[in-house]
Amino acid sequence: MTDTELIPAPRAVEGPPGPGAALGRDTTLWAAPGTETTERWLRGALGAALGLPLRPGPQDGAGVRLLLDDALAPEAYRLDASADAGVEIRGGDAAGVFWGAQTLRQLIGPDAFRRAPVRPDTVLTVAPRVVEDAPRFRWRGLMLDVARHFMPKDGVLRYLDLMAAHKLNVLHFHLTDDQGWRVEIGRYPELTRTGSWRARTKYGHRASPLWEDKPHGGHYTRDDIREIVAYAAERHITVVPEIDIPGHSQAAIAAYPELGNTDVVDTAALTVWDTWGVSENVLAPTDATLRFYEGVFEELLELFPSEFIHVGGDECPKAQWRSSPAAQARIRELGLADEDELQSWFIKHFDRWLTARGRRLIGWDEILEGGLAEGAAVSSWRGYAGGIAAARAGHDVVMCPEQQVYLDHRQDAGADEPVPIGFVRTLEDVYRFEPVPSGLTREEAAHVLGTQANVWTEVMENQARVDYQVFPRLAAFAEVAWSALPAPDARDFTGFERRMAAHYRRLDALGVGYRPPAGPLPWQRRPGVLGRPIDGPPPNK
Ligand code: ACM
Repeated sequence: MTDTELIPAPRAVEGPPGPGAALGRDTTLWAAPGTETTERWLRGALGAALGLPLRPGPQDGAGVRLLLDDALAPEAYRLDASADAGVEIRGGDAAGVFWGAQTLRQLIGPDAFRRAPVRPDTVLTVAPRVVEDAPRFRWRGLMLDVARHFMPKDGVLRYLDLMAAHKLNVLHFHLTDDQGWRVEIGRYPELTRTGSWRARTKYGHRASPLWEDKPHGGHYTRDDIREIVAYAAERHITVVPEIDIPGHSQAAIAAYPELGNTDVVDTAALTVWDTWGVSENVLAPTDATLRFYEGVFEELLELFPSEFIHVGGDECPKAQWRSSPAAQARIRELGLADEDELQSWFIKHFDRWLTARGRRLIGWDEILEGGLAEGAAVSSWRGYAGGIAAARAGHDVVMCPEQQVYLDHRQDAGADEPVPIGFVRTLEDVYRFEPVPSGLTREEAAHVLGTQANVWTEVMENQARVDYQVFPRLAAFAEVAWSALPAPDARDFTGFERRMAAHYRRLDALGVGYRPPAGPLPWQRRPGVLGRPIDGPPPNK
């Protein structure tokens, strides 16, 4: 194992000469107060993988030692491994110690990524190393859309493990959309009874003529959510829930027809949407709608302790509001200029509502249209522009431009990607993604909290498809989010690919169904089996 094989790359690593630290059945674990999450993870995950009991031992022994160190920044760590002193991980906080343990796992080798020992009673060696490391961004996220295709709870827990292995620390949980409502809300049982199932599903992208004629659905109970949030917290991952309003709401309207624009649509006849795209069925701008969603968010705040709560705000078609006499009357009554301001009225209401409860609102960059709510943060998805405007106005930003880090887009120009939607975004494209746009002052750039990769699941029917789209690109993304990389053109992609050779062995041990490494896929080497080439980006949703 050489030091250059760590992903994401650490700030600094040295490999002093000499023998490495041996890890075996007698290796002990000493954990200072405040490092318990890592202590539990080392025994439960690493210990289980390698058959190491990691019994409690002394602080001055040559086993594994975990401690906090005030001299280090939050999330920073220092790892020392040597034959004499064993392995010591110091963290600036509990999270830093945990990230240090993730590095230790990579230093041990691929077997450390399994769930049970495949070579029992082997003495493992960690080469002598001093690793000093700290993240570039405090928001290193993955957005999972569990609305378009439901990901059962076990899959979410698995993705939290995969995030932890890549030092990612925010799960943006897209829980509602036109095609499904995935979180139990006690006071509104129809949201999941009706809203979490659809009768059939468009197969492929929006323009596809194919349907899968069987029901699709599922949801998380409140205890499932509590489990997911606690499992994430053990791994120093924050779960930020998203309830998308006022658009992307057809599943909610199918469950509670009074939420829709009943003066222009027979909302009682609506079903959970069974195709892709952006539904015209949006929320009615009534006080009753606000009260309803206050009820939803009240329950959400009990389940999710995150500072930020995501309210969506993207892609809200305005046609129904334009034609609805009730919506037009509302615009006049509120003294608003137009439908864009009506959308802002929704968002501003929940900005005040969340702020009064000690939380912060975050929304997609459309929330800039019609005036940004005072304390709101922005997920910049339609390129950099929204994020730049928000940062210049003093708002916090998470950079997740579609052109760079939407992992539903295909990874290769060949027409035989499983569902070859969207732009081509290769592993190298993701590796060269820069979250902080040039042109921001230092002060403005400080508003870029970080970045996230977004996984929209219209064309990912199951976990195997999610794995294929997400990996290996998430490894490149993790390095962008964590490591102190130079400017995009100066990034050593060849070196990254070399390190990926080791990382693929880790992903193999984890059971990740990644897209095979760059270059033609095996069947593409045979002439005559390629499908129709695709000119330009086809519709992706
Ligand atoms: C989005 O992709 N509609 C945020």
